[in-house]
Amino acid sequence: MVDRKAARGKHGTVKRERIDKESWKPGNVLYPAPPVLVSCGGTQGWKHNLITIAWAGNVCSDPPMLSVSIRPERYSHEIIGTTHEFVVNVPSAGQASAVDWCGVVSGRDVDKFSGARLTPSPALAVSAPIVLECPLNIECRVRQSLALGSHTMFVAQVVAVQVSAELLDGQGRFRLDRCGLLAFANGQYFALGDRIGRFGFSVRKRGKDDRY
Ligand SMILES: Cc1cc2nc3c(=O)[nH]c(=O)nc-3n(C[C@H](O)[C@H](O)[C@H](O)COP(=O)(O)O)c2cc1C
Repeated sequence: MVDRKAARGKHGTVKRERIDKESWKPGNVLYPAPPVLVSCGGTQGWKHNLITIAWAGNVCSDPPMLSVSIRPERYSHEIIGTTHEFVVNVPSAGQASAVDWCGVVSGRDVDKFSGARLTPSPALAVSAPIVLECPLNIECRVRQSLALGSHTMFVAQVVAVQVSAELLDGQGRFRLDRCGLLAFANGQYFALGDRIGRFGFSVRKRGKDDRY
């Protein structure tokens, strides 16, 4: 149905005569979040382990750094708090079930690699294993731990990256989109859809690479 009060702005934004808002209590509503499999342990007497993390993100470009926020009661918090290293494994949408399962059981009780049928494989720069089946593995060393309240934020430097070679295209570009990107929003998992533009497309003449 056509909204007669709506009109398209220059950049595709919808302009309406009136947009109503409701006030919500403050909460973690910054979505979508990337649900990642963080691997840790496998060193200093710790078993290897996996934990699903949604509170993760890039925090610095140079040096490359990211953060993961983990509750102190998690087994993985004990491990990372001691070893100061971990790997962020970015899963494909097809791995959503393993991602969910690793987020509802504890490594104190089960071996999540074998339970999720995932393969621990050597990292390049840290002792924690990577998840071989995940298309992107980001090896990290902790630089700061911030006790924020419910969560400790581990701010870490990226010390090595591994990508699945099958996802490199003819020009050597990494096409993570080809394996199905996974997102987490409002307690639900989503497979991301179509590519709609490339960085800067709003200010460039539209070329064949900028289809959307
Ligand atoms: C989608 C999803 C996202 C999660 N995100 C976080 C998170 O950001 N931080 C956290 O501490 N726990 C998070 N959890 C919960 C942990 O993954 C879960 O408690 C896990 O069982 C802890 O494992 P561990 O005891 O082996 O460390 C998440 C769980 C799911 C399913």
